Amino acid sequence: MTKEIISYLGSDWEKYKEVFAESLNSRIPLLDSINQYITESLGKQLRPMLCLLAARVCAGKCEEHTADCAAASELLHTATLLHDDVVDDSKIRRGRPTVGAMVSSTASVLVGDFWLSVAMKKIVDGGNMKIINAFRDCLEELSKGELFQMQKAISIDTTEEEYYQVIFYKTASLFHTAMIAGAYSVGASKEQVDAIGEYACHLGLAFQIRDDILDYSPKLDTGKPSGQDIMERKITLPLLGALRSLDEKESAKLMKKFCHRRRRAVLKEVSLAGGIGYAQKALEEESRKAVSALDLFEDSRSKEFLTKLALHLCNRSS
Ligand code: IPE
Ligand code: IPE
Ligand code: MG
Ligand code: MG
Ligand code: MG
Repeated sequence: MTKEIISYLGSDWEKYKEVFAESLNSRIPLLDSINQYITESLGKQLRPMLCLLAARVCAGKCEEHTADCAAASELLHTATLLHDDVVDDSKIRRGRPTVGAMVSSTASVLVGDFWLSVAMKKIVDGGNMKIINAFRDCLEELSKGELFQMQKAISIDTTEEEYYQVIFYKTASLFHTAMIAGAYSVGASKEQVDAIGEYACHLGLAFQIRDDILDYSPKLDTGKPSGQDIMERKITLPLLGALRSLDEKESAKLMKKFCHRRRRAVLKEVSLAGGIGYAQKALEEESRKAVSALDLFEDSRSKEFLTKLALHLCNRSS
């Protein structure tokens, strides 16, 4: 599926790759070697893909600054992962040791700062105030999301509404920014930007719910360890779904195991209580809403790919 999209994006994808790669030369050997380690195993590059598709669905083509926006989205995403793995004390990402595990947590934070600053340089140099403001808001939301999540992991009392707030800030916000930046870069109308923004928000929510389900799916090889959210005491939708179906006594018992980080028992009981099915239903609903937001656009291959992506992400296993 993503291969097909990359082939459809053709030279626009090549341009994004060029901008991304050239951004990372620092002439600091330690930094360059860590950057090389990270780029040796790239992720799905979903955000730049979405950015370029957003430009194409609005205008039928990309402009020069679209590639900068796509590169900035992936740079900023990688910065959040470098920071996230320190925050979550994660040792494995993309099937390999994290920078924190290979070098140190300090290096991971500092390299994350470098990627973040390079992303912002690409955006600021473009001089488009709408795009600059979108990335500025996103940076604020990303930090708010992580800190709100941290607060909730301390108090261990997340409601479903608060869960959605966290995942909107920490994940959907960057999907939104990547896509509206792509739309702005081709001079899209307000209606187009709003529709693409709505698609992106629902897709981002669905994407994080699926990630949270994968964290409860130890049998799948995702390139990341499972049960990480339990170890960090993060209440996510599978657990919330399980708690809804249990009576007070059983809920209290499950929460006790969760608080004691009894990873295996929690994984099993959440699944047995239907928590994964509950979260899967919620993400399918978000994916449907994402697809409906595309109604504004005339039929095109870009629209077709955006539709397929929303459906495909519902069952992704990596
Ligand atoms: C991981 O994002 C972080 C989340 C928002 C769940 P991705 O799953 O897009 O990570 P990579 O870049 O493909 O590894
Ligand atoms: C993703 O949250 C949010 C980010 C902005 C990185 P997670 O902490 O669940 O991401 P993974 O599972 O480590 O990729
Ligand atoms: Mg995290
Ligand atoms: Mg994490
Ligand atoms: Mg996760």
